[in-house]
Amino acid sequence: MDTFEPQTLKHIGVYTSGGDAPGMNAAIRSVVRIALYNKIEISGIYQGYQGMVDEKFEPLHLGSMANIIQRGGTVLKAGRCPDFHKPQIRAKAAQNLKNNGIDALVCIGGDGSFRGAKALWDEHKIPIIGVPGTIDNDINGTEYTIGFDTAVNTALQAIDKIRDTAASHDRLFIVEVMGRNSGYIAVEVGLAGGAEEVFFPEHPFEPEGVIAHLQQSVGRGKKSSILITAEGDTPGCAYDIARVIEEKSGHTAKVCILGHIQRGGSPTALDRMVASRFGAHALRWLMQGQCNCMVALEGTTYKPVSLDEAVKVKTFKYKGLLDLVYILSR
Ligand code: ADP
Ligand code: F6P
Repeated sequence: MDTFEPQTLKHIGVYTSGGDAPGMNAAIRSVVRIALYNKIEISGIYQGYQGMVDEKFEPLHLGSMANIIQRGGTVLKAGRCPDFHKPQIRAKAAQNLKNNGIDALVCIGGDGSFRGAKALWDEHKIPIIGVPGTIDNDINGTEYTIGFDTAVNTALQAIDKIRDTAASHDRLFIVEVMGRNSGYIAVEVGLAGGAEEVFFPEHPFEPEGVIAHLQQSVGRGKKSSILITAEGDTPGCAYDIARVIEEKSGHTAKVCILGHIQRGGSPTALDRMVASRFGAHALRWLMQGQCNCMVALEGTTYKPVSLDEAVKVKTFKYKGLLDLVYILSR
């Protein structure tokens, strides 16, 4: 974490970047209303870094935040800006911020967005605080990211429905959930949904063991099963798993890819609560002159974690949960 002179803080910019996540609106609302409560001007930056480069800034008022706490997505729009990897483009963004009198930033997004934020602090000394927002829950240094609970519950509702039809037809289903580089959604959904097996990047599909397990289940009279897989690099790996199972065992498997349904929808109470508190801490710390850090949740404590730490790869401690999935489904 770094510090700056908080007396200079007159006008903050807030933006959402990377993939959207349910609860981002609650975080924006919190940041905006706390800024205004403390007589600090606040502007929305639309479409993440692209908006910073294209000067898409708009002053936000109390009224702009009305009726958004319950809405999924982000009213500031999200997005990716590949050009932001270039120092000269970041310099243009920094100049745009200065021209518009924006002295500090709150970045709501994932680790990629925080890399961009860190570069803005390192190169242009723009004070910035990150608020972790991604359904994948894969940001280092925090146990929770905005959107995860809603995404898991959305996937779970779908799995409960699949279970009805799977049981009625004695079928095997492979359900693919989101998580390009991480298995948090897959494991939590697997445990809460009573799945037989869960696959994700750190724990990939391994045909022999899985087929032996399915055969054991059939042997003890189990007629339907659900396997969960994280999407991996590209969505669609559930079809490959189904094909291999069928080729090697003769079990036919149906596939259901849940996809972007998991990114939308009204945020759960947990996501609204955590998002509101993340936003409040971000503002409080900026007003105290703290920056170059992310608001992290550890247990029930909100604490600052440096952006250097936040952009490191998070180690997924899944072993205990996976053991439980395994034992409970036998
Ligand atoms: P997320 O924030 O959800 O991880 P991305 O990884 O797509 O999403 O990153 C969002 C945006 O952050 C990118 O489109 C880019 O504009 C910016 N960004 C990502 N990595 C860097 C980097 N190393 N340097 C500068 N900007 C970056
Ligand atoms: O927000 C994270 C995530 O949902 C990943 O799990 C997924 O692979 C990725 O975003 C897809 O994002 P997009 O379709 O916007 O590229």
